[in-house]
Amino acid sequence: VVVPKFSLKEEEDEVDAGCGKTKVTIFFGTQTGTAEGFAKDDYAADDDEYEEKLKKETFAFFMLATYGDGEPTDNAARFYKWFTEGKDRGSWLQQLRYGVFSLGNRQYEHFNKIGKVVDEQLSEQGAQCVIPVGLGDDDQCIEDDFSAWREQLWPELDQLLRDEDDANTASTPYTAVIPEYRVVIHDHTVMSHEDNYSSITNGTTAFDLHHPCRVNVAVQKELHKPESDRSCIHLEFDISGTGIMYETGDHVGVYAENWGETVEEAGELLGQPLDLLFSLYTDNDDGTPLGSSLPPPFPGPCTLRTALARYADLLNPPRKAALIALAAHAVEPSEAERLKFLSSPKGKDDYSKWVVGSQRSLLEVMADFPSAKPPLGVFFAAVAPRLQPRYYSISSSPRFALDRVHVTCALVYGPTPTGRIHKGVCSTWMKNAVPLEKSRDCSWAPIFIRQSNFKLPADHSLPIIMVGPGTGLAPFRGFLQERAALKKEGVQLGDALLFFGCRNRRMDFIYEDELNNFVGQGVLSELIVAFSREGPQKEYVQHKMMDKAANLWSLISQGGYFYVCGDAKGMARDVHRSLHTVVQQQEGVDSSKAEAVVKKLQMDGRYLRDVW
Ligand code: 2AM
Repeated sequence: VVVPKFSLKEEEDEVDAGCGKTKVTIFFGTQTGTAEGFAKDDYAADDDEYEEKLKKETFAFFMLATYGDGEPTDNAARFYKWFTEGKDRGSWLQQLRYGVFSLGNRQYEHFNKIGKVVDEQLSEQGAQCVIPVGLGDDDQCIEDDFSAWREQLWPELDQLLRDEDDANTASTPYTAVIPEYRVVIHDHTVMSHEDNYSSITNGTTAFDLHHPCRVNVAVQKELHKPESDRSCIHLEFDISGTGIMYETGDHVGVYAENWGETVEEAGELLGQPLDLLFSLYTDNDDGTPLGSSLPPPFPGPCTLRTALARYADLLNPPRKAALIALAAHAVEPSEAERLKFLSSPKGKDDYSKWVVGSQRSLLEVMADFPSAKPPLGVFFAAVAPRLQPRYYSISSSPRFALDRVHVTCALVYGPTPTGRIHKGVCSTWMKNAVPLEKSRDCSWAPIFIRQSNFKLPADHSLPIIMVGPGTGLAPFRGFLQERAALKKEGVQLGDALLFFGCRNRRMDFIYEDELNNFVGQGVLSELIVAFSREGPQKEYVQHKMMDKAANLWSLISQGGYFYVCGDAKGMARDVHRSLHTVVQQQEGVDSSKAEAVVKKLQMDGRYLRDVW
């Protein structure tokens, strides 16, 4: 689908499901047009027309930006009002299949509100959701978000159209076309291509998501104290000589490897030896392209071990398209039937409970259907999605560590509803990484930098307030390193307050000595720590903020910046509320006035969030 200039006009595209063409309509809402343009827009017409228009659609996709203060864009405003304030529409929406991709920015309080509301209301009014709402975040990389959403969309759409075709021709046998790479198996006289990541050193190559740079792990250490039953890793990537550049507050994308046990389990489930050397191709051996649209294969020749470790997402719940591919290769008829059912519209509830709800990994599902052993070309094309990079807020400053990118990563480890212990792919890799300090045969990973807007004020004399419990401390460690370097250069620094939170001083007070040193050097004016599990009552960063309300507000009033980093749903939401309360109390204003003040801070770029 080509994404043209936005307008709440429809763009039509035809999806070829191998069974004739189906019309798909895409509605755009954006701010790029001019006011006169909107007046001419079809959608400035009668409200009834919206209904007429939508009634004609079977598939509709909405691309909706959230603008300013949680508002729709001008050209979508009327549609939004009509749709959200509308009366009960009866049952006609039930024939509509839809998807929403929403465009917004996480820095704003009403992140992607318009898309979320339209998605919710469509669903409430009976329309059938084809794909969960996509939340595009302009603060990070909206293109990546869109690509991820689109990649999820095609298989769903493909499947839906096939199901329909099957229903229309009920007696025809199951004929799903399953994408498949051509596989060439090599003998071991061929050199493997294990080191697929170049690290071009001329400084002109821009590394990105698609062109990561291979770097070594220089340092790896545990940050929690022995008493802690959890783990948090400090890791340093050596970027010397790579040309990689970053700024304090940026993010690093890391391509990690699946854990050895996971890879071995996958090899067994596939019934293939891990040292099998193979290459994938998207064309036939006469050079003609294979029918289906396949993503570019990973470089080969490559052993199955490497392919499973580096390129296959094995631990997320499988998508329906994966179940279909497994079904097609299940030798046991009962297994094939059950897999087909799970991926069919009738099996929707089973799929959402048994697969998604219970966080059943692809490997767990494969273990339940042992007769389904797809060939490698099918497995890598249709069953296992490509393993995605993980993003971390960089916890260093290049002014302090020019040749290093520091990461502070909490280990993801815990039981799922099925009793499996879920080990996060990247954090487990970091936990087990061997640094150059300890071995010349050290761990390495392909990485790239993602820029962010989470930056110190350009004027260093302005005060800053940082709120970052747990690994939310990461970017602030970078900020403080940067301030220390500035101070050394004789730059006059404004006050800096840091609210940090952890469970217990004896367990998870990470970087304690460093933080105290920053205070000693006058880089940090005050370190305020909330220990949540020391006393009889939980103490969180937001409680400490309230204790310091007068000081905090006085610093912000002097032109200070307010930064929050960490968990979006719990902590950042609560901190936001507390900031609102601080404003109300300190300014002696009512709630709506306080809201306006907080908004203004956000709009001015003085209230910045790096949350996940
Ligand atoms: P808890 O685990 O004792 O609930 C870092 O993870 C710290 O953030 C921990 O001390 C954790 O406390 C705390 N935390 C958990 N939920 C929070 C919330 N909603 N607001 C602020 N801090 C929170």
